[in-house]
Amino acid sequence: LWRSDAIIETMIEQVQEKVGDEEVILGLSGGVDSSVVAALLHRAIGDQLTCIFVDNGLLREGEGDQVMRTFAEHLGVRVIRVDAEDQFLGRLAGEADPEIKRKIIGNTFIDIFDEEAGKRENAQWLAQGTIYPDVIESAGSKTGKAHVIKSHHNVGGLPEHMKLGLVEPLRELFKDEVRQIGLELGLPSEMIMRHPFPGPGLGVRILGEVKHEYAELLRRADAIFIHELREAGLYDQVSQAFAVFLPVRSVGVMGDGRRYDYVVALRAVETIDFMTARWARLPYEFLEKVSLRIVNEVRGISRVVYDVTGKPPGTIEWE
Ligand code: XMP
Repeated sequence: LWRSDAIIETMIEQVQEKVGDEEVILGLSGGVDSSVVAALLHRAIGDQLTCIFVDNGLLREGEGDQVMRTFAEHLGVRVIRVDAEDQFLGRLAGEADPEIKRKIIGNTFIDIFDEEAGKRENAQWLAQGTIYPDVIESAGSKTGKAHVIKSHHNVGGLPEHMKLGLVEPLRELFKDEVRQIGLELGLPSEMIMRHPFPGPGLGVRILGEVKHEYAELLRRADAIFIHELREAGLYDQVSQAFAVFLPVRSVGVMGDGRRYDYVVALRAVETIDFMTARWARLPYEFLEKVSLRIVNEVRGISRVVYDVTGKPPGTIEWE
């Protein structure tokens, strides 16, 4: 029988033995894996842990504040929040190619993380939320070496001069087990049961060039969609759902006026492994409600469409 409380005890002992009284840094993304590592390490080594949370300006609505509330306020974890929107959007300016955008976001993350981590001269260890499927994945790739920030962040690795030992307490666990441990450690189920969110964040959900204005519109539309999914009890029935920002303008009417505003696409899929996926047959009445709310409440969006493409031939994300 797999018992999460026993596993947690063992992991805590192993971490304590490994790091002794030395300092550990962790890149906290707000995703399930790094969140569980943060909660676990906090329990194991308390204030020897410092988390670095890089807000890239491409997070969902309220996400940065939620991370700070959960970890810094509720759990008392030391979290350094770096507001780096300007750096990310500055480097992304003028770039429309999805793969180049991913590289820019990954490299900017590494630069900022490195700079912050470098300020903690006493740190001897780097903790990561690597889980078993990541281990399998990187075993077959060139990047399967020690200094690897999870492929999740689309980053090659920390600079050589940072000679940190790795602490990866979730290395042998599957996602379901990590979730169970997270719940056991007292993390909010809303955080633990959340749909996956890509490392580059809204950067790949704003088609083409990324701009602050677009990110703001997308955040609001996406928040309405997700809120309504939860309200309707549909959130847990789909594997992933989100809004996508299309930087094209479409004509609409509102009251006596004419609008000429942007378009948002809603995407919801059902899948087991994210390798193939079926578009979710969300009820028409539900889609209508979401569409009306977005067009009425988000000034700047005049049209909402629903994506009915499976994977294959489509991908789940639009970029
Ligand atoms: P696609 O779009 O390839 O997505 O069908 C499959 C799953 O992977 C996620 N995804 C990413 N995750 N960095 C990530 O961390 C990325 O660059 C990235 N691209 C796609 C996507 O959200 C879906 O869950």
